[in-house]
Amino acid sequence: MKKIDLPFASKLTSPNPVSLVCTRKPDGSTNLATVSWWNYLSFNPNMIAFAMAKTSYSGELVRSNHQVVLTIPGSSLAQAVMNCGSCSGRDTDKVSRFGIELISVEGTSVQIPLHSRVAIVCRLKEFHEAGDHYLYLCDVEQTYGNIEENALFAWNGYSCVCPAVKAEN
Ligand SMILES: Cc1cc2nc3c(=O)[nH]c(=O)nc-3n(C[C@H](O)[C@H](O)[C@H](O)COP(=O)(O)O)c2cc1C
Repeated sequence: MKKIDLPFASKLTSPNPVSLVCTRKPDGSTNLATVSWWNYLSFNPNMIAFAMAKTSYSGELVRSNHQVVLTIPGSSLAQAVMNCGSCSGRDTDKVSRFGIELISVEGTSVQIPLHSRVAIVCRLKEFHEAGDHYLYLCDVEQTYGNIEENALFAWNGYSCVCPAVKAEN
């Protein structure tokens, strides 16, 4: 094996997960940000975590109102996922700019993309500094799924998103 840096390791682990973190802006509308660094943490109680750059608007919103829904986008949202990962909700209304259709789900006032395979409704429990990111630990309040939607994954590190196909043995 060769010595490599951690960003290159993340290319070698592709496909990596990809989610859209949905947060509530002060005017009640939804902000969406693309996040690969998320994980299940516990099934008893149900908990997940995600890491976001300290500068992200999503992080600021979660730290202030504690509401967040982590969704796994369906394949028709591939371009929207790249777009939501390349600008900030601080100066862009991503939902209207990228024409993303939203729906409401029970248990949260944060709207989510219609084309989602999974939606995990969470409440922020705590957050910790992790280098240039904050790690957000969340209690899961509700979980929704739609098997008709094909999940997206991030390929070649984080440079493109498309579905994954199981290799034949
Ligand atoms: C495929 C992909 C994966 C990403 N994963 C993360 C991530 O795990 N954590 C993070 O902080 N930013 C990640 N980003 C970048 C954020 O989505 C980006 O900084 C975004 O502008 C943040 O938006 P906000 O300021 O509205 O929160 C990713 C971007 C892409 C395209």
